[in-house]
Amino acid sequence: MILNPYESDELLHQYLVFHYASFEEQFSYSLGASDALGFPQRCALEGPDYTALPKEARALDLGCAVGRSSFELARVCQEVIGIDYSQTFIDAANHLKINGLHIARRLDEGSTVTQIDIKIDPFIDRSRVQFEQGDAQQLRSGLGKFDLILACNLICRLSDPSSFLTRLSDLLKPDGQLFITTPFTWLETYTKRANWLGDGAKSSFLELRRLLEPKFNLEKSWNLPFLIREHARKYQYSIALGSRWRHVNLNRELT
Ligand SMILES: C[S@@+](CC[C@H](N)C(=O)[O-])C[C@H]1O[C@@H](n2cnc3c(N)ncnc32)[C@H](O)[C@@H]1O
Repeated sequence: MILNPYESDELLHQYLVFHYASFEEQFSYSLGASDALGFPQRCALEGPDYTALPKEARALDLGCAVGRSSFELARVCQEVIGIDYSQTFIDAANHLKINGLHIARRLDEGSTVTQIDIKIDPFIDRSRVQFEQGDAQQLRSGLGKFDLILACNLICRLSDPSSFLTRLSDLLKPDGQLFITTPFTWLETYTKRANWLGDGAKSSFLELRRLLEPKFNLEKSWNLPFLIREHARKYQYSIALGSRWRHVNLNRELT
């Protein structure tokens, strides 16, 4: 029995479609909701402030799933490490790294699926990206320090989001950037109620700020809608709150 839904075939293909299918393949209606397409690309390309990153930037994408944001980061960063707890997702991300393509099964209705050939943009240097299975709450030693960390829609899937947030500063270089998005969809299957941020999730973002602010300055926060297709006539429309943080540079603050 599969206990982790992110190991299932259903979520694997849902995420391959979410990350890589064209906008038309995901949502073919000229109705609302198209503002929510392209979420993993928007996180990678609009979340960080690229004018403030060094030329040879190192980036870490925590909870990278099947890897679209990691590949997009490689357009700009010299080295990208994508880490996800799901071995199934990491295997698919590695397949895309090695072959540049994958097949996604898009659910249309009932058990009718359409096979979609997905491809990584050939302008992306895939050798800059490494994927590995791991727990963002217990990262292996030797990862080094990063100029940029992305943690998109991850924190409400963790058992202990507070300790995850307080440990992030150890992974960032001075002046490094952290971009977090979350819809704060707290569920006891992932996070016991006592660990929901902000006194049982009465004020999750205030608590996120309180945990990060000793070591980070908040630069900007904004809404990022995202659309996940369940089938041709059923979608999840959610609105993540994105926030970009700058790691405090103690050397500069003291001079
Ligand atoms: C809601 S999805 C978001 C995926 C991706 N960042 C995105 O925005 O599309 C949450 C992801 O976090 C991963 N995840 C859950 N717990 C994790 C953990 N402890 N360490 C690393 N990844 C984890 C899941 O496997 C899943 O891929």
